[in-house]
Amino acid sequence: MNLDSLVLYNKIKQCVTLSGVAAKKGRLITEQDLGVIENAAVVADASLSQIVWVGKSSELPQQFSTIVNEYNCEGEVWLPELVECHTHLVFAGDRSHDFAMRAGGKTYAQIAAEGGGILTTLKHTREASFEDLVENAESEINRFQALGVGTIEIKSGYGLSLESELKILKCIQALQQRVTVQLVPTFLPAHAIPPEYKGRGEDYVRLICEEWIPEVAKAKLASYFDVFVEDGYFSVSQAEKLCLKASEYGMGIKIHADQFKSLGGTQLAVKLNAQSVDHLDNISVEDIKALSNSNTVAVLCPGASLFTGTPYAPARALIDSGARVALTTDFNPGTCPSRNLPLMTTIACTQMKMTVAEAIAGITYNAAAALGLETQIGSIEPGKQFRICQIKADSYKALPYCFGELQ
Ligand code: NIG
Ligand code: FE
Repeated sequence: MNLDSLVLYNKIKQCVTLSGVAAKKGRLITEQDLGVIENAAVVADASLSQIVWVGKSSELPQQFSTIVNEYNCEGEVWLPELVECHTHLVFAGDRSHDFAMRAGGKTYAQIAAEGGGILTTLKHTREASFEDLVENAESEINRFQALGVGTIEIKSGYGLSLESELKILKCIQALQQRVTVQLVPTFLPAHAIPPEYKGRGEDYVRLICEEWIPEVAKAKLASYFDVFVEDGYFSVSQAEKLCLKASEYGMGIKIHADQFKSLGGTQLAVKLNAQSVDHLDNISVEDIKALSNSNTVAVLCPGASLFTGTPYAPARALIDSGARVALTTDFNPGTCPSRNLPLMTTIACTQMKMTVAEAIAGITYNAAAALGLETQIGSIEPGKQFRICQIKADSYKALPYCFGELQ
């Protein structure tokens, strides 16, 4: 090991390692599993941006005592950099009109049926220039980063033509050159039926399978594939066709399921060994059981429930039956225009009765697992990437407590 490239971060007030969470692969987490170390030290290799050693300052091994690059981190609480595992961050326009209609008593489905909803954003996003989309998305990413986030998954899905879906995916690619946040691109062509295919859902699914998936895979523009399983959007059998084709082309699978209705999307996710299944506000008892016995991560979206005034996902039932549960903003213009991941922990604790430890794991280790990145990020342990969220506080409990105003 090259001692010159090592950096010692000493006297960290509190370091939340999540070592126990990682050991349990994110299931049945207790406060103990956060692996909190008071008066901690972390040794990192700056050239590899990798964590080398973590422990109590008083137990720093002799071999590191000669490190020259040392920082005094008194007063800091360290957590792994937060992971935002589900966003629809590249879009144009806003949907305040939808919000106002919901406030007046309309439902998400009614607004969509009247031509609002996703199709409104589709129109604006198709019309927007590449440069404007990148600029807007960059400022959104910066807002996430200011609140501790270091990795963000971004879905396409507001283009729904090959040309505009490619435009969005290429925006994500271009953004990765402009930001230090790590981006994970997901192809979501089955977000809604575009106007050109109204009443011809099967034709649209065929087109995605036969032409779009091969094209996106060839250009290496997406790590994951996603589909919105819901009445009026895509059925379970259409989702299965799409996901099988995408995995044939090497993409991981994610599914939007049970957001407004339980249709069997979760069972499909489990059957296909999907990386995650997201929303789950209306998941059935049988599906909770199936998901809990699988490796598929349950990604919950408390902000979307709050913002649409619809039920929260049954987090307690999922967690208590052993599911791996992550939390996300689901940042998008329609159902959750919030870039505040810490705030999601507050809502999860008060509205979904998650413990603080479960909520912290939900935006770190389990969110990393929802992206298949848990061996690289999501905990502060030797060998992991040196990606840290530092907060000025007395305890990590400040994170859900701060009500979205992380210092
Ligand atoms: O995750 N459910 C589907 N997609 C988004 C909403 C998209 C929109 O309304 O623009 C979601 O909530
Ligand atoms: Fe979503």
